[in-house]
Amino acid sequence: MRLIEDLKKIFQEAENKFQDVKNDKELEELRIKYLGRKSYLANFPSLIKNLSLEEKKEVGKLYNDIKKRIEELYKQAKNLIKEEEIKFDFDDPGEEIEQGRKHLISQTFEKVSKIFLEIGFSIVDFNQIVSEKENFDYLNIPVNHPARDLWDTLWIKNIKNEERYLFRTHTSCFQVPIIKKIGVPLRAIVYGKVFRYEATDRTHDFEFLQLDGISVSEDSNLAHLKYVTRRFFQLFFDKEISIRLRPGYFPFVEPGLEIDIGCIFCNQKGCQVCKKSGFIEVAGAGMIHSFVLKSAGIDFKKYQGYAFGFGLDRLIMLKHGINDIRILHSSDLRFIKQF
Ligand code: DAH
Repeated sequence: MRLIEDLKKIFQEAENKFQDVKNDKELEELRIKYLGRKSYLANFPSLIKNLSLEEKKEVGKLYNDIKKRIEELYKQAKNLIKEEEIKFDFDDPGEEIEQGRKHLISQTFEKVSKIFLEIGFSIVDFNQIVSEKENFDYLNIPVNHPARDLWDTLWIKNIKNEERYLFRTHTSCFQVPIIKKIGVPLRAIVYGKVFRYEATDRTHDFEFLQLDGISVSEDSNLAHLKYVTRRFFQLFFDKEISIRLRPGYFPFVEPGLEIDIGCIFCNQKGCQVCKKSGFIEVAGAGMIHSFVLKSAGIDFKKYQGYAFGFGLDRLIMLKHGINDIRILHSSDLRFIKQF
């Protein structure tokens, strides 16, 4: 019968074409041609309306079968195109991955480490929770000494081995343990968080950053100290810097010094930042007190050393013109992304 021949021919043709289809556009054209409203198959029922019941049954069965198979061909071709698209869509821009970055504080740690390694210091790490001895007694600050009042302290309630523990109030607490551990001669710095029990404002936080350095040998002296600190500040601020040493009091150094740098904003002409003095106070320092060397078990007649310590936040704030320490310590992306 003609209709049967036609159906078979249509199916064969469709099968070939659906196999060759390459993209959505071609697929849609084939769908319209073979399954669309004006297709041969859509029109087929009207072609058989004059046939006998017997013939209708025979042709109808074939028609249903072929229609189903062409629909199947269409679905297969569609899936295939989708897979190909996933593999080969070079134009798809994809999802943007947000790029992270190091916080300004981490960047500064790296810079500071690099500078001190260059000057000839080891970089060491030390605990944030330390014993009362490490933070105070070894450093010539006995109980009831008024100097303890310089630091408002966060004590840990647990008492371990009869010793009291606290959040370190300064990085100087590393001095005696590191000398005991490594021995002399020695040149080392430590930096990191320190903690004080106090209210916060634009220039104070209860948690902030310090750096402490010591050099102990037979001849470490104040001239070395002056060179080392000046060199550090020059490399840190990337400019020529003058330095001024003044007498200052810290129980663990004798003589004790305050270190000022020539104001980096006005070239020592006098401005708001340096309060018209031309200098900015940046560090404490001095020759390590014999009491401290004794605490570390060092022969203080043979060995001597210098020490220095400063607030790292303050240096970062000076360098980058940041006027609130709390912003520096925040995780606010609007701030972090600027560096
Ligand atoms: N630890 C002192 C403070 O927190 C700073 C300091 C002063 C450190 C003199 C030193 C030093 O190493 O020699 O204020």
